[in-house]
Amino acid sequence: MRKGILIFCLVNLCTVTYLVYNVWTLLSLLVVTGADDAISRAELPGPNSDADLFNGRPQLIPKIIHQTYANTSLPKHWRDAQQSCLDLHEDYEYKLWTDKSAREFIASEYPWFLETFDGYQFPIQRADAIRYFVLAFYGGIYIDLDDGCQRRLDPLLTYPAWVRRTLPTGISNDAMGSVPHHPFFLKVIDSLPRYDRSWILPYITVMGSTGPLFLSVIWRHYNSAGPVEEADRVRVLFPDEYSKHSWSFFRYHIGNSWHQKDVQVILWMSRNWIFLTFLGFFTAGLVFTGLWWAYGRLLLSGSPKGQQFRRRLPFWRRFSSKKNDDISHYELLRHYDQDRLEA
Ligand SMILES: *[C@@H]1O[C@H](CO)[C@@H](O)[C@H](O)[C@H]1NC(C)=O
Repeated sequence: MRKGILIFCLVNLCTVTYLVYNVWTLLSLLVVTGADDAISRAELPGPNSDADLFNGRPQLIPKIIHQTYANTSLPKHWRDAQQSCLDLHEDYEYKLWTDKSAREFIASEYPWFLETFDGYQFPIQRADAIRYFVLAFYGGIYIDLDDGCQRRLDPLLTYPAWVRRTLPTGISNDAMGSVPHHPFFLKVIDSLPRYDRSWILPYITVMGSTGPLFLSVIWRHYNSAGPVEEADRVRVLFPDEYSKHSWSFFRYHIGNSWHQKDVQVILWMSRNWIFLTFLGFFTAGLVFTGLWWAYGRLLLSGSPKGQQFRRRLPFWRRFSSKKNDDISHYELLRHYDQDRLEA
């Protein structure tokens, strides 16, 4: 019987280890702050300062703003946001990527990705993917259409690459900047085909295959691969500098394109994560106890069903051989079964 317990515990341990191994990057995202790579406020010139907007540092990222939409007829509620960025950056090149131009760009520059690109189940996945490719190719700053601009982005052009931190965990893909061919974005585009998986809920599928969750996981892998040179670093824009204040770079607009049921579910889950964590442990405990009870009951019961089940259990014969009465019982039943089969 002791061996039974041992096997049972081992199986459970292996299962848990396997599960933890698989979600390790996700778990580590909960504790990684990105603070080491933060773009500190001290590095940034005041919003209305007449000082050199680059703060005496060289410009690295080209002056290009990328945005995406299905076509060129933007809905009214996003035109204001778009205009706020255009007005502040008249000397920047502006590229609006439509479904059509995005596909043409992938087909001509990254034909190896076209099959994955066309195969995405949701249009938002293509909108996610195209932004990584244009940053890897042209460099520049990508801005979501529901983000408006509050001040010139020049100071952000002095970093080789930057992303935006989201709370409580990870980074987002709604505003990002990069030089062309930055190793981080090259890794991102190379990883896209591998992460093209379905996760039942559309929201999780999008998040995990192309969206912020995908980007956060690659960011973790990229940073944990070891120390990187200054030119390879990915700097992090924190909420204060992103959009929280009047002097932040962006201004968040309402009009998010997908308010589906599963978004609500995920939002609720993120608000109640402590409760859900406890619930998770409680459920795991319950399942463990239940399994143990079932295992023990089937082993101990003398019913034919229990007997049949026992025969299939690992090592049952070996650790039960000491119990003579049990084995004779088992033999009896086997004969009984055989008789029935022959009859
Ligand atoms: C542009 O795309 C939107 C959203 O898919 C659609 O509702 C609209 O009809 C399109 N406009 C044109 C001119 O194709």
